[in-house]
Amino acid sequence: MVGTGEPVMGSRRLAGLLASPEGPGPAYRHWAEAIGALILDGRVGLHVRLPAERELAAALGTSRTTVTAVYDLLRANGFARSRRGAGTWTALPEGRAPRAVRRLLGSDEAAIDLARAAPGIPEDVLAEALALAGPRLAEHARTPGYHPFGLPELRALVAERFTARGLATTPEQVLITSGAQHALTLVLGLLAGPGDRVMVENPSYPNALEAIRRARLRTVSVPVTDEGWDVEIVESTLRQVVPQLAYLIPDFHNPTGCLMPPEERARVLAAAARSGTWLVVDETMAELALDVAAPPPMASMAGAGQVVTIGSMSKTHWGGLRVGWVRASARLVRELAAQRVAVDMGGSVLDQLVALALLERSGGSLAERLSVLRERRAVLMAALGEQVPGWTWRVPPGGLSLWVDVGAPVASVLAERALGRGVRIESGGCFGTDPGVFEQRLRVPFSLPGEVLREAVQRLAGVLDGGAVVSAADRRVHWIA
Ligand SMILES: Cc1ncc(COP(=O)(O)O)c(C=O)c1O
Repeated sequence: MVGTGEPVMGSRRLAGLLASPEGPGPAYRHWAEAIGALILDGRVGLHVRLPAERELAAALGTSRTTVTAVYDLLRANGFARSRRGAGTWTALPEGRAPRAVRRLLGSDEAAIDLARAAPGIPEDVLAEALALAGPRLAEHARTPGYHPFGLPELRALVAERFTARGLATTPEQVLITSGAQHALTLVLGLLAGPGDRVMVENPSYPNALEAIRRARLRTVSVPVTDEGWDVEIVESTLRQVVPQLAYLIPDFHNPTGCLMPPEERARVLAAAARSGTWLVVDETMAELALDVAAPPPMASMAGAGQVVTIGSMSKTHWGGLRVGWVRASARLVRELAAQRVAVDMGGSVLDQLVALALLERSGGSLAERLSVLRERRAVLMAALGEQVPGWTWRVPPGGLSLWVDVGAPVASVLAERALGRGVRIESGGCFGTDPGVFEQRLRVPFSLPGEVLREAVQRLAGVLDGGAVVSAADRRVHWIA
């Protein structure tokens, strides 16, 4: 029943997410398919009560019969279930996985995976870290092994690394988490409540957007273009909306690769301080500095007030470790630790010992890794320039991918067809706060070996040759699907 606090999707909100029906086929089918897609990509949650038919009909400007047909089709396809006279709830059809999960899974086929911008870890580096971690684990095995703040020795090393980068930090200001994603979820849970406004970049990292949606926060977005941030818009948004929290990736922003210049950081910090907004700075990509020096932590700048910094081993070492951290005031870290106990009690001791060993020797291996990435980026750019000369991008000073403009809003169709030719790739739409934007973009990672990247680009070019309407001069795609 309404009023019990169960999640409900308002009719105007749902209608706002649905485009008007276009193309062939009846409207009810179009809307049912669109709602199914929204459920799979997480924009409409699971077990959420859908609006009453009459209300949705009014919001969509259609008849109640049409909405009845929409709900019937959703039920038939497994996207909804109803209790007679009680309402209709969203559901996940048998055998389907939400998009957020599918994005992380590899494909069964021998497809080249350009969907994940995450490096593997060289075998020798891992073997060395395991050799160091083994004896230390034996010592830990004599203790109960619960460390809600993280392993003391890892906290100390992470604190030291912040201090060395110019942000004086004590171990008490560090919480070790199960990756940056866990860090963000904990911070959102502590500092914001359902309905609060959160300022995000658009585009942004899809799983962060997903975490924000799941926390039932309301996003307000500010654009990040190839030229970076428009600080005036950031300032005016902070001033006018007064969001509770802002989530930013100022260091080699995912997906654009942009780096926020120091003077813009200072203005953002000042504006956030004026509006009393918590700034959550995601430094996951910060060490992937390819053409510039790695930036100092944003929280080290004068005037940094309520800044929470999150970081991770995933991009510099390996995502499979599931080790990340939060750097904040000691008090906030204690509060977050209480929050994390309710979630997972503490992280894996073995993973943290491996992370410790990797960080102890990371100077050398990071330099090697960055030089490999530089080479791969060059290979990717050369292959794209050769095979799809109509595509454009701005060379990112760091990070793991190119944010490619394919010249027409066809990225989803392209990604779908690329799969048929053995390439998994994300269309830009996944990175947007709203459906339909960034359809002209593909995020193309350069984390795979050069020869694999060359092959992938060749296959992508093959997609264009196999059906797209391509203008003779520049091979720009204008797809008639
Ligand atoms: C900007 C950003 N933040 C967070 C994450 C997630 O990191 P982790 O694997 O540490 O949870 C990623 C991974 O792609 C990322 O790109």
